[in-house]
Amino acid sequence: MMNDNTPKRAQFATRLGVVAVTVGSAVGLGNIWRFPYEAGANGGAAFMLLNLLFVFLIGVPVMCAEFVIGRHTGTNVRAAFRKLSPGGGWGFIGYIGILSSVLILSFYSVVAGWTMEYIFRSVSGAAGGASPEALHSQFDAFAASNWRPAMWTVLFLLCNYAILSRGVEKGIEKVSNVLMPLLFAILIAFCIHSLFMPGAADGLKFLFRPDFSHISGRVVLSAMGQAFFSLSLGLGCLITYSSYFSRRTPLMKTAFLTASLDSFVAILAGVIIFPAVFTYGQQPEAGPKLVFEVLPAIFSEMTGGAVWSTLFFLLLFLASLTSTISMSEISIAWFCDDLHMSRRGATRLNIGIAMVFGVVCALSFGCLSDFTVCGLTVFNLFDYVSSNILLPVGGMAISIFAGWVLRRSVVSGELNPTSRAGRVLVGVLVFCMRYVAPVCILAVFLAGIGVIRF
Ligand code: PHE
Repeated sequence: MMNDNTPKRAQFATRLGVVAVTVGSAVGLGNIWRFPYEAGANGGAAFMLLNLLFVFLIGVPVMCAEFVIGRHTGTNVRAAFRKLSPGGGWGFIGYIGILSSVLILSFYSVVAGWTMEYIFRSVSGAAGGASPEALHSQFDAFAASNWRPAMWTVLFLLCNYAILSRGVEKGIEKVSNVLMPLLFAILIAFCIHSLFMPGAADGLKFLFRPDFSHISGRVVLSAMGQAFFSLSLGLGCLITYSSYFSRRTPLMKTAFLTASLDSFVAILAGVIIFPAVFTYGQQPEAGPKLVFEVLPAIFSEMTGGAVWSTLFFLLLFLASLTSTISMSEISIAWFCDDLHMSRRGATRLNIGIAMVFGVVCALSFGCLSDFTVCGLTVFNLFDYVSSNILLPVGGMAISIFAGWVLRRSVVSGELNPTSRAGRVLVGVLVFCMRYVAPVCILAVFLAGIGVIRF
């Protein structure tokens, strides 16, 4: 099943380490870059509420399902399903996972590359003193400049290579332990700053006062896709990570804590961004570039802005790294097993494929901006297909597998409730895995692509 090149079944050393790596995978560009622009484009508060509903109604049960499968089998996503249901035909979940991870890694690396450009600008003082309008056009010019975003994408992927080819557990666990608390502290500091901006009231109204007239099948699908993307669900990433959990790791607590912290960071990002959007008269619907236009405007008027800006983009870069490493680990583990590759070779293949697609995604803001499929540029296509199609389909399959195929004793054994309330919670989670998650995902999916109408 697994050859000698397969990444070791080491264990994360501490309880804090488990939380840090899981939250490290979940918290990243999905919260600080993707959530604000999706919320901005889809009506603000109503989108956020729907997203929270999906996080707890579907996200937590699917996360528990991934944890149960991963820790019980102690192996990679492909081998896990073969081990639990030999010949059962569930191996397709592994294929969905690998495809999603490559698509996400490609467009994600472009945005992580943008953060590197902004670190560079902050350090070199290039952005200092520019007006919000100037910052606006600076970003557009940069994104359309072809070679520079492509270069950063490649550089970012090389950073991944450097870490991944050496193995990740110790590095990742240690790095995450320090970075995650630091990221929280910085975000809270920015939040306080944003609350004193002239546009704070309008921004908060946009984020917290729901207007359900914006809700359509497409918006509901986006809110669900965002929940999957942000929690790193549906592609087997958390199956891989939980195979490194020790028997003592409490799975339900870890799932609830991860989901809560992840949502908290997304809301903090909204509280930072939207007051600034309204203060500087920008458009909440600006799309993927929103954060890169709005945040530099905040920094440029802060005392010590260059330092804050460097720190912020550095942390965003590192938070992206802890996420991309978790998504790469899925394919690397699989290449090692099925193609019998060495870890180094598997990492090269994974990063090499991501580089080709990543550069195409980077160019889709420049010379390839007119190349569209179904009206979407390659960058937007990869984002849409992975988040709104592959992750929900993968999540639905994982949930059905854990709810219907896995024996109940395995599920409760892994979730291991220690109190009466815990046993009730396991019952609720299994009910969600069996019925709520599959039915909701299917309904939202069909409504989102226009097959059914409510
Ligand atoms: N959850 C990560 C984020 O929010 C992205 C991610 C998706 C990571 C899928 C791993 C797998 O940035």
